[in-house]
Amino acid sequence: MGLKLKFRWNGHACFDIENQETGKKLIIDPFLEGNPVAKLKKDEVKADVVVVTHGHSDHVGDAPYISIKNKAPLVTMVELAWILGEKNEGLQIHDINFSGSVEVGGIKITAVPALHSSSYDGMYAGNPGGMILDFNGFKVYHAGDTGVFSDMELIGKMYKPDVALLPIGGHYTMSPHEALKAVELINPKMAIPMHYNTFPAIKQDPLLFKSLVEKSTKTKVMIPEIGSEFIIDPKDLN
Ligand code: NI
Ligand code: MN
Repeated sequence: MGLKLKFRWNGHACFDIENQETGKKLIIDPFLEGNPVAKLKKDEVKADVVVVTHGHSDHVGDAPYISIKNKAPLVTMVELAWILGEKNEGLQIHDINFSGSVEVGGIKITAVPALHSSSYDGMYAGNPGGMILDFNGFKVYHAGDTGVFSDMELIGKMYKPDVALLPIGGHYTMSPHEALKAVELINPKMAIPMHYNTFPAIKQDPLLFKSLVEKSTKTKVMIPEIGSEFIIDPKDLN
């Protein structure tokens, strides 16, 4: 597989990812405005597809705005898709549910469970998800907000993600200790921590996660800086 992906972590759970072969760009959970640590501005985002894992405001963020501005479809869980579609005229939506997929710009997006909750603007918003982002066989698992759960093993076996993006902030999601168990269950080649140090409640040391994981598994841990781009070449992951 010669395909490389260019990543940028925009703080919290937001990543934008570009397929270096096709130039197609995806952004997931774009919480930019109101995010104290994000450097990227919503008007600077270029995207061919926008993905949202669940309804909490730190995940939906600027997704409808970015989606409409870029004429990029928004992919999310069914009930949240209905709510966002009703509140945003002209929003192009793909609603999916667990094990369901949609393909946009050659990127296949599949919803998988997350052990969490979902609401939007005070309304119950159905189930939260994680998302498998498949760029022509280079697979990234964005776990969304989640606690650890044993079906992560099935997600690992089924989709064989190369890279797993995992929350480690604790309080609302896994902390480094639970995220270590998640890595053991998923068995990705690389893990990248997210959803920490945005607010005081989710203060964590990503180096603790890295040392726990690299001591007891073969998975490499990368800790990106907010706003800086990095390229992952699958050759380097083996
Ligand atoms: Ni949440
Ligand atoms: Mn969250």
